[in-house]
Amino acid sequence: VALQPYNTFGIAARAQRLLRVRKADLLPDLIGQPGWRPDRVCVLGGGSNIVLTGDVDRLVLKVEILGQRLLRETEAGYLVEAEAGEDWHDFVTWTLDRGWPGLENLALIPGSVGAAPVQNIGAYGLELQDRFHSLDAVDLHSGQVFSLDAAQCGFGYRDSVFKHERAGAQGYGLAGRALITRVRFWLPRRWQPVLGYLELERKAAEAGLAQPTARQIFDWVCQIRRAKLPDPAEIGNVGSFFKNPLVSPEQCADIIARDPAVVHYPLPDGRIKLAAGWLIEACGWKGKTMGHAGVYEKQALVLVNRSDVQHPCSGAEVMTLAAAIQTSVYERFGIRLEIEPVLW
Ligand code: EPU
Repeated sequence: VALQPYNTFGIAARAQRLLRVRKADLLPDLIGQPGWRPDRVCVLGGGSNIVLTGDVDRLVLKVEILGQRLLRETEAGYLVEAEAGEDWHDFVTWTLDRGWPGLENLALIPGSVGAAPVQNIGAYGLELQDRFHSLDAVDLHSGQVFSLDAAQCGFGYRDSVFKHERAGAQGYGLAGRALITRVRFWLPRRWQPVLGYLELERKAAEAGLAQPTARQIFDWVCQIRRAKLPDPAEIGNVGSFFKNPLVSPEQCADIIARDPAVVHYPLPDGRIKLAAGWLIEACGWKGKTMGHAGVYEKQALVLVNRSDVQHPCSGAEVMTLAAAIQTSVYERFGIRLEIEPVLW
């Protein structure tokens, strides 16, 4: 099976087999079948946060379970639930249309609802974990259905138990082990706009609105994203290719000594977040191309597909470019950039 249509980077690679999962309750049966090899299975959502480094010699389960609903409405807020195969942005739009604000800062993030907890998606001052309630998943080893709350998901910056094979402090390590089937969100009635992010603050100031509506924030986020992030429907990409590195104040001082302009943000826990896009741009990578992979000209943290009809972009080309960027950033700043999407 060709996987090019199923990954937003548009990397040309093949899978041994691809099965569309439309109903969660059929999974235990599938997993119970003789010959089921959980170690030979990969779970695919919208394909917007994976890099196919080569052919996938496995069974790909493409999650296409649909549905979304209000589970509970109380004085305090709304508990909403979506099946894993729903498109994330459509789900955000649906909640706002119904008058349940809270997810607006996460508008226009590509991908599916089921994939969102895996990397704890975040943008413009909000992370999935801030609105997350719980999720249901199926254990690919036993076929058992289980639920996890936020603490059990072990959310971190672009991180969760679903990205780790070995158990962390929370006691779980669920990479390759769980297929997320549905996710629930708690949206409090006492909504407050999240405007801390510089570009949103600027939009609010321009509009002269100190108390914008959720719909307004949604529109601003869409405008900001469209202005500097490539639409995967037009230019293949997986969003940010690296995580923003976290460093100690000493390391940061050292980098400032080398380059006073480095963009950095102090975090509440004392560490400092560096803008990886700035580091990459400072190394001269913005707009560069290597093979059929390139660095986006408006946002250096985003790698893009530069293939043409005759020459599709391979996973190896993407990884070669990524390694070259990592090397330059390390040589210049002593910082090791960590790849953000999941590598297959
Ligand atoms: N910058 C540069 N040059 C660049 C890119 C960025 O100098 O080419 C500097 C600028 O100073 C800019 C700052 O870096 O102000 C931050 O850039 P931006 O606001 O674009 O955000 P980011 O840190 O690059 C992160 C997330 C994005 C998310 C935005 C907004 C990560 C890895 N990425 O990017 O998430 O949309 O913040 O909240 O944390 C994703 O994960 O795929 C993603 C797109």
